[in-house]
Amino acid sequence: MSAAAMASDPLAHPRQRNRTRLLNDGSGRPSVLKEYTHMCGEDVRTLSKIERRLRSAGVPMPEMLDWSAEPPATVHAYVNGEHRTDPTSEMIDAAAEVFAKQLKVLPRTSAPWVPRRPVGLPARSREAAHVARSSSLRDAIVGSWYRISELAASQPWTTTHGDWRADNLLYGENAVLAVLDWEILISVPVAEAVGYAAASLTHSWRPDLRKPLDPSTVVTFIHSAERHHALAPGETGHARLAALHVAAVRLAEDEADGIDAPTLSELTRHLGARR
Ligand SMILES: Nc1ncnc2c1ncn2[C@@H]1O[C@H](COP(=O)(O)OP(=O)(O)O)[C@@H](O)[C@H]1O
Ligand SMILES: [Mg+2]
Repeated sequence: MSAAAMASDPLAHPRQRNRTRLLNDGSGRPSVLKEYTHMCGEDVRTLSKIERRLRSAGVPMPEMLDWSAEPPATVHAYVNGEHRTDPTSEMIDAAAEVFAKQLKVLPRTSAPWVPRRPVGLPARSREAAHVARSSSLRDAIVGSWYRISELAASQPWTTTHGDWRADNLLYGENAVLAVLDWEILISVPVAEAVGYAAASLTHSWRPDLRKPLDPSTVVTFIHSAERHHALAPGETGHARLAALHVAAVRLAEDEADGIDAPTLSELTRHLGARR
């Protein structure tokens, strides 16, 4: 795999982990080179197998054109889609359908780099609780985490894409053209996976894309996920609680960064426990 003779431009974004570059060899078919900072060569081989399995099950993603173990890197076809933090309801439904599909393909996937959900509060949630403007928001972040942690012990687990955020989804007209970053997998309870995806769907750190959280998109995603059989009957409350956790984290981050955000009571009205 050689990128030396090609024109190449960085595809950079805030909080990026890997080095990603757009390659143009003059053929009119651009591709994307990604050099991994967190994976070894054997991991990239496993990733290429996982991606093949997902693609052949109909999960939209860029075709992997090449990969190398040293340095750990992949080349994917460039997909001409759009990141959206204001998806239409058709886009939300399409994203939920794709999410359900990957849950069916990945459930028992094991790869050496796949972490299990942490027991203690994750670093991002801890930071959000630290910057939260009110004790009620801090309590919502910490309390929801411990409630989903209790539920985790008694629920079925799955492996899932672990970063279902706007920066990793490329849309065409009311359709998902590609999901990126399949090296980010995590092992979690199914309902937790759905809740995290629902509350992350419209999130981006890019200044031009970052928007206040709209709680109704979170609820719409969970309903669509139910319709596409990602959730078993009785798992919806658990998914809403996981979504509430991520939404509360986003709210604290947005308030701290001076971005308009819904109030905590709006969030709990949409995602709080139902009697
Ligand atoms: N195959 C692709 N087609 C189109 N755009 C891509 C492709 N791969 C990456 N990108 C763009 O580059 C950005 C960073 O790439 P990504 O693979 O998500 O890297 P990272 O792991 O650093 O998030 C993406 O958010 C997307 O905008
Ligand atoms: Mg990404």
